[in-house]
Amino acid sequence: MKTVEVSLPRQKYSVQIKAGAIADMGPLLTACAAAQRCAVFADGVVAELYQEPIVKSLEESGYEVTTHSRSLGEADKTLAAVQEFYDILLDGRFERKSPIVALGGGVTGDTIGFVASTYLRGVPLVQVPTTLLSMVDASVGGKVAVNVPQGKNLIGSFYQPKLVVVDPNVLSSLPKAELRSGLAECIKHAVIRDAELFAWTEKHADELLALDSGRLVELLERNISIKAKVVVEDEREQGVRAHLNFGHTFAHAIEKTAGYGRVLHGEAVGLGMLAAARLSIVLGLCGQEVYDAIHRLLSRVGLPTQYELADAATLLDAMRLDKKVSEGDIRFVLPLSIGEVCIRGGVAEKDIHEAWSAVRA
Ligand code: GLY
Repeated sequence: MKTVEVSLPRQKYSVQIKAGAIADMGPLLTACAAAQRCAVFADGVVAELYQEPIVKSLEESGYEVTTHSRSLGEADKTLAAVQEFYDILLDGRFERKSPIVALGGGVTGDTIGFVASTYLRGVPLVQVPTTLLSMVDASVGGKVAVNVPQGKNLIGSFYQPKLVVVDPNVLSSLPKAELRSGLAECIKHAVIRDAELFAWTEKHADELLALDSGRLVELLERNISIKAKVVVEDEREQGVRAHLNFGHTFAHAIEKTAGYGRVLHGEAVGLGMLAAARLSIVLGLCGQEVYDAIHRLLSRVGLPTQYELADAATLLDAMRLDKKVSEGDIRFVLPLSIGEVCIRGGVAEKDIHEAWSAVRA
């Protein structure tokens, strides 16, 4: 078992990484949230595949387990879905100490995390991410939220889990495109913090895509450590946590203008990192070699480097609606080198258009 500790000022928790870890859920949960009862809330597809060993282990450790699963795609990340889970908890008279296990990808973690953060003003939350993207990013750091008609993730909070259990074996059922999408967030971590990890990812790309167990555990440990370190430095995104948004200002505009679900999040992030690298070159902050390295690694893992984008004005409007925009100014995370980024605002529209041209098919 590899362990990454997330040591925040007011709360510490661990991310446990091990092939087969979900079958150890009972002892893992007992160590941090002992209680008579717990709930396992899951995405429907994932529940069919992985709920049984989790429930078995929890019951063997003495928990009385309530389960509920439902479709949890991006369109289900709603207050209506949250109410459905509240009803299970309220009707079952769940108490403050009873933990909730969130089993699924990023949407599940965000939605169930929001439920856990608000039910009785907060009950213990355990994240069991089942996509690479949620393992290395969404399940760690405490961002929980749901969508409303006005936009994505607009209702939410920071609510740290008590425990995160990462089992790379579950990635065997993940579609390859989703695996690649998760690798985009790993490449992001490498670009913002770790040039050696960037080179390592490039060197071992084939083994990672083939789900080599040892390489995957190393990938997970290194990426989760970067995510944890950034979160510990800046839990509430007052400063450096914004570096995790590298590529995302462009990516959100691609997702919004293409129509949600048309492009995977990681695919959009990959394209967004290239656009950001081009912008950085235009502003004189980095050299062409940074763009070329990102392009090479994205291609190596099979992520797109070009896309049929909307027109420039539509993209700019979409960027301006992003919730990270501050007083009308779009703030960009831009690479200085592989391993280091900065934040810049006040960028001219013509430079943003030039950045988009780097990924326009
Ligand atoms: N996914 C970015 C963050 O957790 O801040």
